[in-house]
Amino acid sequence: MRILAIETSCDETSAAIVVNGTKLLSNIVASSVTLHGKTGGIVPEVAAREQVRYIIPVMKKALTSSIDAIAVTIGPGLIGSLLVGVETAKTLAYVWDKPIVPVNHLIGHIYANWVKQTTARTFPAIALVVSGGHTDLVLMKGHGRITWLGGTRDDAAGEAFDKIGRLLGLPYPGGPAIEKASERAPHPDGTGFTFPRPMIDSDDFDFSFSGLKTAVLREVKVRNLTMNHEPSTINDLAASVQQAVIDVLVAKTLKAAQKFNVKSILLSGGVAANETLREQLKSSIIDNTLSIKFFVPPKNLCSDNAAMIASAAFFNYHPIPWQRITADPELSFA
Ligand code: KG4
Ligand code: ZN
Repeated sequence: MRILAIETSCDETSAAIVVNGTKLLSNIVASSVTLHGKTGGIVPEVAAREQVRYIIPVMKKALTSSIDAIAVTIGPGLIGSLLVGVETAKTLAYVWDKPIVPVNHLIGHIYANWVKQTTARTFPAIALVVSGGHTDLVLMKGHGRITWLGGTRDDAAGEAFDKIGRLLGLPYPGGPAIEKASERAPHPDGTGFTFPRPMIDSDDFDFSFSGLKTAVLREVKVRNLTMNHEPSTINDLAASVQQAVIDVLVAKTLKAAQKFNVKSILLSGGVAANETLREQLKSSIIDNTLSIKFFVPPKNLCSDNAAMIASAAFFNYHPIPWQRITADPELSFA
């Protein structure tokens, strides 16, 4: 089955065709991220306008073959951005008389782990979704059998990186900038500064990253860093922040994996492009001599793309009449 997917939840406009959930025929992504760099963050109205500008050129490029069904991200995301993809998908489903499948963006992120893959992902699995808007741990007993275990109580991991990046005077988005700065830090292992590991020992699967931002702000103020930018100090702050976030993500994911005795850990979301997170989560499984397989998508499929949406739709194939497809900015796992 060839599924054409459309993803427009935030600042990426993407269309893809995926065969049977794994074989990638096309995956076109246009991003307005550089535009948001100028404002240091996403202005929803600007993102929506860019979606309108990109959607037809992106669709034209992605449509390299005939298709059997359409999939579309219905949420969570920015309403103005979501509507562009949702209305485009509904129109095509009506005109071409094709089945249409609504997809939760967060479940889409998990399915980036299936795109272009041939080896089986074994269940049960723990999926950690770390993106700009979400940090969630879910238990997956099979396709469509997902239980939410916990998530962030305040800022998402990516959001924390973006806000702290801005505090440190780094370019937007903060995540990749913090990763780059960490590599140049005098203490790339994050030992330069001691930051809290919020909720690392709490008896649940929740996260909290907003306190970290306050701790960094305190350091910035104490050292008067905005007025006296010391690159090595900024880089050390970045490395210490990155390590604090990763320590919590790794600890909670491993705890969930052991509690539910899973066979796989699936990492996904924009923050999953972080090399240190990828390496440390993988090595923590080996260090703890757990017989758990670790999966993470190639970096270009960690950030928002339509291929993952097509894959999610294939493995959870529940088409509904196009008249009932509506954008839902607040959609969650629960
Ligand atoms: O999944 P995504 O592309 O969009 C959302 O659904 O939110 O995630 C974007 C987030 C941003 O917060 C960005 O700073 C973060 O992912 N990010 C990273 C890296 N690349 C992107 N965070 C840490 N390290 C990276 N290499
Ligand atoms: Zn996303």
